[in-house]
This record gives sequence, C-alpha cells and structure tokens, in this order.
Amino acid sequence: MDKRKALVTGIGGQDGSYLCEILLQNGYTVHGIIRNRTTSDYTTVAVSHVLAAAEKNQNKLVLHSGDIMDPYFLLSLFREHSFDEVYHLAAQSHVGTSFKLQLYTCDVNALGTLRLIQTILTLGLEKKTKFYNACSSETFGQTVKDYQDESTPLCPVSPYAAAKAFSYWITSSARITHGLFAVNGILFNHESPRRGLGFVTRKITFAIAQIHLGLRSCIMLGNLNARRDWGHARDYMQGAYSMMKQDAPDDYVLATGKTRSVRDFVVTAFQIVGIRLEWSGSGIDEVGVDARTGQVRVRVDPDLYRPAEVSYLRGSAQKAATSLDWKPEISFKELVKEMVEADIALIHEKPTRFWMESKL
Ligand code: NAP
Ligand code: GDD
Repeated sequence: MDKRKALVTGIGGQDGSYLCEILLQNGYTVHGIIRNRTTSDYTTVAVSHVLAAAEKNQNKLVLHSGDIMDPYFLLSLFREHSFDEVYHLAAQSHVGTSFKLQLYTCDVNALGTLRLIQTILTLGLEKKTKFYNACSSETFGQTVKDYQDESTPLCPVSPYAAAKAFSYWITSSARITHGLFAVNGILFNHESPRRGLGFVTRKITFAIAQIHLGLRSCIMLGNLNARRDWGHARDYMQGAYSMMKQDAPDDYVLATGKTRSVRDFVVTAFQIVGIRLEWSGSGIDEVGVDARTGQVRVRVDPDLYRPAEVSYLRGSAQKAATSLDWKPEISFKELVKEMVEADIALIHEKPTRFWMESKL
C-alpha cells in the first residue's frame, strides 16, 4: 500500500469530498484545507461526507482550518508536512458569481494557485511535491469546434475562466521553468448529489425533489439552450488521481464526449419523478408544463442570464483514454437519477432544515 501524504485544497467541496475518499482507499494520509465557518450549523452535503470520512479514518485524514489566500498559513503547513502530492481544488467556482466578484474571483482562482506553487518553490520542494491544478473547460470559451481537447486554444469569456486560464499557464510555467511535476486537469462539467445548490444540475434536481414532495411548484432558470458535457464527479476525481500517478507530468482533458442542453437535463430529471414536460413559448416567455396536469413547472428568469455565456461544450478525452486508461463509468441517466433520488432522500431526512433558495 502507498503511504504517501497528500494535501487537498477545497476538500469540503464536491470534488474534494470524492478525491479524499479515493486517496484514503489508496492508503494515503490525507490533509485537507477547509474554511472556518462562523455559522457552524450550516453543513453542505459534501462537507458532511468529509466529516464522516474524518470520523472513520482518524489519523489518516487531517483537516486544517485555513485559507489558501494566506501565504503564512501555507508556508507553515507545507513546512510541517512537506506533502508528496498537492491537489489544488479550492476556488470561487461559480461562473455566474465571477461577473459580480471579479477581483475576488481572480485573486482566489489565479493568484491563489500561484501562492501554492510559490510555497512549494520557496521551501525547495519542487523535486518532492507533485502539483495538480483544477483547470476547467470553461476556459475554452466560445469555441467554433465541434469538440474541445488539449490542443484547443483557451479563449475565456468570464472572469472565472480568465483566472483559470492564468492558473493553467502558471502551472505549465512551473513545470517548464522549475521542473515541478505540475499537471493541469482540464475537466468538463461534472456533477453529483454533492454538487453545490447554485449549479444548474443540483438546482434542478433539488427543486424537482421539492416539487415531488409538494413543497414548491416551479423552477426558475436562465439560459435553457446552453449545452454542457456532463459527467459524474467520482469518475473525474479518479481521472485526476491517475494523472498524478504518471511518470511525467502533462495536461489532460476529462469529458464524456456527449453534449446536452440545460433543457435536456430538466426533461430527464422530471422523468425520474414521472413528470413529462411539454414546452411552449420562446425566450423569456418559454415555459415547461406538466403534460398531464397542465401545471407550469419551469419558467425563465432573465436575471439568471449571464453577461457572457459559453453556449456549447463537448470534450474529447481521447488522450486520457489512451494514456491514463480513463473512461467515465457513470452514464448521464444514472447521474441524473442518483441526484434526484438523493435530493428526495435528503429532504425526507431533514424536512425541518431551512433550505436556501438558490438565486444563482
Ligand atoms: P466547489 O464544490 O465549489 O468546491 C470548492 C471548494 O473550495 C469549496 O469547499 C470552497 O470552500 C473552497 N474554497 C474557496 N475559496 C477558498 C479559499 N480561499 N481557501 C480555501 N478554500 C477555498 O467546486 P468543485 O465542483 O468541487 O470543483 C473543484 C475545483 O475544480 C474548483 O477549482 C473548480 O473551479 C474546478 N472545476 C470544477 C468543475 C466541475 O464541473 N465541478 C469543472 C472544472 C473545474 P467554501 O465552501 O468555504 O466556499
Ligand atoms: N447556475 C445556473 N443557474 N446556471 C444556469 C441556470 C441557473 O438558474 N439556468 C441556466 N443555466 C446555465 C448557465 O448559464 C450555464 O450555461 C449552464 O447552465 C451551466 O451552469 P453551471 O451549472 O453554473 O456551470 P458552469 O458550466 O457555468 O460552470 C461549472 O462547470 C465549469 C466547467 O465547464 C462550474 O463547476 C465551474 O467551476 C467549472 O469550471
């Protein structure tokens, strides 16, 4: 069994929670940075999984309360532990929010990545510590190609993507300049029951669970025509782990190769609870109606449109298939079903909890 020591920034997020489980299964001692919440009664699904793993794996999973923006915190953490592998996942990861919090998003997503790399270099750990950077398909922006892969130029249209493009280049630069084992995982959208409630898939599955249980009547959404290549987060974290197991560092796309619209996701998710949608109207007047009862279940809210949109993403993970032997295991339908059923179970389990309505 491997006895390596890994650090996961953003361990309390969707991906961090799965990656932490994968690393523990592979014999790692896992350290995770988690931000202190002053309102301690608010725990996300992802964080609750990490806390459960910490309970089960005492001494093998160590959570550090901290922030990647504090270089002194990073220096003392790395000095004490000199990690074998660093998986840098922490980010302001919501694209829509990045238009309102531009400076903050760039500070965390771009300079936060540089702060981590600088910490490794400052402590002379570049020959010991491997570094994974969570890059994003959002950096491809408005591409004209039918699919995107490692050779597609980055053309960011949001502050989030611009910051992630910086993180991509500063990571490659550390590989070239300092010989750091530095990897960019260029991941297409991946979802799960642990997704934050502000992302469109979970917003939809959570609202459908509420509709199914009679707690609400309708979902408000933005651009129904945007197309994404949606996979399952567990599969993608397995791929990220494989990237770090290679003899030499490189950049890899992870994707399913299939693209679907937000409208497709809504239709598939409603089918799980036995509701068939029919669409009428167009633009902001478009509605999704329950074909059996005539009740309006989906409406468009123009406030949810983004100032600039990535309208089409479809990835080719050919390189990961060939070099990492990676392929997604969980199908789109299985993903949607798992998410809807998990949200129904969650609301059943905690019916009195105050659930925040997502305005994102
Ligand atoms: P997520 O659920 O939003 O998790 C991000 C985590 O980072 C959160 O736990 C967040 O903590 C933490 N964080 C934010 N700022 C921090 C800071 N300054 N210091 C320490 N921790 C901080 O995102 P995810 O879906 O797991 O994605 C993981 C990474 O992959 C992100 O970098 C994201 O941009 C990237 N990515 C995601 C996808 C996707 O489809 N999921 C695709 C491509 C790339 P709080 O909860 O306290 O905010
Ligand atoms: N969030 C949200 N809320 N998105 C909506 C809504 C809504 O009510 N209605 C329509 N959408 C559309 C967005 O405009 C976008 O085109 C699409 O749904 C997906 O939005 P998100 O789920 O917020 O994800 P994203 O694609 O913007 O970003 C995610 O994937 C990136 C990888 O491509 C995030 O996980 C990023 O961190 C990640 O890098």
